[in-house]
Amino acid sequence: MATVTLDKVNKIYENGFHAIHDLDLEIADKEFLVLVGPSGCGKSTALRMIAGLETISGGEMKIGEKVVNDVEPKDRDIAMVFQNYALYPHMTVYDNIGFALKLAKVPKDEIDRRVRQASKILELDANLDRKPGQLSGGQRQRVAMGRAIVRQPAAFLMDEPLSNLDAKLRVQMRAEIAALQRDLAVTTVYVTHDQIEAMTMGDRVAVLKAGYLQQVDTPQNLYDKPDNVFVAAFIGSPSMNLYEATVEFDDNGGTVHLGDQNLRIGPEVLENRPALRDHGKVIVGIRPEDFEDASLFEGDTTGRELTSNVRLIEALGSELMVHFDINARTVDSGDPDAVEESDSGSNAVGRFNPRSRVKMREDVRIAVATDNMHFFDPETHLSIWS
Ligand SMILES: Nc1ncnc2c1ncn2[C@@H]1O[C@H](COP(=O)(O)OP(=O)(O)OP(=O)(O)O)[C@@H](O)[C@H]1O
Ligand SMILES: [Mg+2]
Repeated sequence: MATVTLDKVNKIYENGFHAIHDLDLEIADKEFLVLVGPSGCGKSTALRMIAGLETISGGEMKIGEKVVNDVEPKDRDIAMVFQNYALYPHMTVYDNIGFALKLAKVPKDEIDRRVRQASKILELDANLDRKPGQLSGGQRQRVAMGRAIVRQPAAFLMDEPLSNLDAKLRVQMRAEIAALQRDLAVTTVYVTHDQIEAMTMGDRVAVLKAGYLQQVDTPQNLYDKPDNVFVAAFIGSPSMNLYEATVEFDDNGGTVHLGDQNLRIGPEVLENRPALRDHGKVIVGIRPEDFEDASLFEGDTTGRELTSNVRLIEALGSELMVHFDINARTVDSGDPDAVEESDSGSNAVGRFNPRSRVKMREDVRIAVATDNMHFFDPETHLSIWS
């Protein structure tokens, strides 16, 4: 049983660099919380403070009911799994998994029981006599997990444990780790810079940017209701399309002026986001799946169409990524990885049905699911709601 609570936690490194600002997080017992954000945003710093490997410069850290600010790592009852899990090469899998218990002078038969139990869960039972060099990457990663499991900690802390694996194995291991965590029901904080890993593994996801927490919520809520432009752009791939625009309202809805084109929005947009009334200028966000080849629609898309010219098509089989231009100013979300995303040099990406017959360099009519559009304040970059 362990909750992990961070209350206005700060980290200022010795050189004066303020890496974490007033971080508040409440991780529930048995929860799988993922900390995600671009490189350098402070994920490892936050995790290492929970582990006790970094001092806390301000605020309070609790594991369960106990304040641990000044508790040694070994007394925090946590187990950490790193990216470089550094197994002992000369030891067998069995000894690698049991090593921490041996150091802790746990009786031999108890070590044996726990190592066998963990290796069974991890399907390593057939490999207990092997050395790490005789294992695959995925098996080595499982040994690292085994070392954490046998300690029966109150919490697991994992820092990019899959980043040394190839893409396919990473997908497999992320499902395995998520399932294992649910079986073991141990509170887990998992760090990654990969938003897909975050979305697929976490009960909740905490998004960090430059040491500041942006939003913590379930993966679906982060996707559907991002609090700000940064979260909107960071979560989802390809990224949300973001432009400067203006809105005007009338009796049966409103009009979004996007460059030299107009899009109608229904009255429910304003009902959901009453504060939009106070905004002329906005940042408008459109997810790639809310663009579609208009010629595929039977119904009327009048007023909910853009015209453009196709710059690039990426055929992925199940969908077409169609790149085109919208002549409106794009918005820098602050995500360093998102800026260079469009290799076509165009500023919009739509996720079209593969039945679409659009062609490169041809004109295209694009239907927009305008009622799904997101709206942000151009000054604060915060979502506009009530
Ligand atoms: N010992 C240190 N002294 C000063 N600054 C540091 C120290 N360690 C890390 N930093 C800085 O703190 C910031 C956060 O680093 P951290 O390692 O937590 O980032 P991260 O989110 O884990 O990044 P990555 O995804 O690249 O692992 C970075 O700007 C980093 O340069
Ligand atoms: Mg890191």
